[in-house]
Amino acid sequence: MGFCLKVLFSLFFQVLPLFFHQAKAGHLPKFHNVSSLEGKKQVSGCNLFQGKWVIDSSNHLYDSSSCPFIDAEFDCQKYGRPDTQYLKYAWKPDSCVLPRFNGLGFLNRWRGKKIMFVGDSLSLNMWESLSCMIHASVPNAKTTFVRKETVSSVIFQDYGVSIILYHTTYLVDIVRENVGAVLRLDSINGGNAWKNMDILIFNSWHWWTHTGRSQPWDYIREGSKLYKDMDRLTAFYKGMTTWARWVDQNVDPTKTKVFFQGISPTHYKGKEWNQPKRSCSGELEPLSGSLYPAGPPPATTIVKNVLSKIKKPVYLLDITNLSQLRKDAHPSTYSGDHSGNDCSHWCLPGLPDTWNQLLYAALLM
Ligand SMILES: *[C@@H]1O[C@H](CO)[C@@H](O)[C@H](O)[C@H]1NC(C)=O
Ligand SMILES: *[C@@H]1O[C@H](CO)[C@@H](O)[C@H](O)[C@H]1NC(C)=O
Repeated sequence: MGFCLKVLFSLFFQVLPLFFHQAKAGHLPKFHNVSSLEGKKQVSGCNLFQGKWVIDSSNHLYDSSSCPFIDAEFDCQKYGRPDTQYLKYAWKPDSCVLPRFNGLGFLNRWRGKKIMFVGDSLSLNMWESLSCMIHASVPNAKTTFVRKETVSSVIFQDYGVSIILYHTTYLVDIVRENVGAVLRLDSINGGNAWKNMDILIFNSWHWWTHTGRSQPWDYIREGSKLYKDMDRLTAFYKGMTTWARWVDQNVDPTKTKVFFQGISPTHYKGKEWNQPKRSCSGELEPLSGSLYPAGPPPATTIVKNVLSKIKKPVYLLDITNLSQLRKDAHPSTYSGDHSGNDCSHWCLPGLPDTWNQLLYAALLM
């Protein structure tokens, strides 16, 4: 049996039970909060996020030189990364086949719609990846590309599809007060710009850990209480809770599908994968198997906790474990004109393409 046929076959058997389940429930494919997603995982027998990396060169969807949307800091091939093996892996869920990304299908399905990534530079990474993946399947389509500090966009004009990025490091607000810059855990005015979207994909975490000169606030405020600092996981929990309230108060689930991008791991500390002398620099291969020796970062617990309490349906793109295995996929020193060793972002093409394949799969379900 040819490979394509095999994929079609297994797709058919993956998807079939899903349709039966939905037909029985008597409604169209509906969106799911985390707990009902867990239920569906059992029904369809597939957790998309549990699996392993396999060698598969056909998964390389575009070249960095042919995508006009990639920032220098992610353009590893252009900035001298000598190896290419990291481009030749595909994510293989244990119990189903990840559908192939179809950019034209995506544009037709989401014709006239607005898709917004909201968050820090990991959102930027994923936004550029999705724009490149779509562009690769319609390279001659007319696009408008705007790259600004807060709101950036790629619009595929013939389809009216807008892929938008709203840059915010904490989701909640930073405001000027007499004392200086204040991180307001209970204020989320930025949210006014996120209304009326058809798909929202949120992300936040990395900036919550920043201290010293890379910390952009002087105080934290919660209501009338002002703090010089706070346990960062506690602060993240409070900020995320404010975000959850925003979703519950502002999202109409019949119009808007909401995702949380999951915690993107870093690879600065080799002891996490039992190679204490190493970082991501010079890593050429993923970890084999499905387990990351150090286990998931603590912030994942906060995310799951907050999502379990949210009332509106939010789909967790649970990309943490699969990304932890990809110590080889960071820009390291091939990061445009950034100095230093970047083990936090990801090369494009590269890992964020898999995140978008998973987003695509979740949207098909
Ligand atoms: C991620 O790994 C942890 C253990 O390290 C495990 O408990 C969890 O189920 C894994 N998540 C997925 C989606 O595989
Ligand atoms: C999530 O969905 C399930 C199943 O539809 C429902 O029972 C549960 O109450 C929902 N969770 C919340 C927090 O509303």
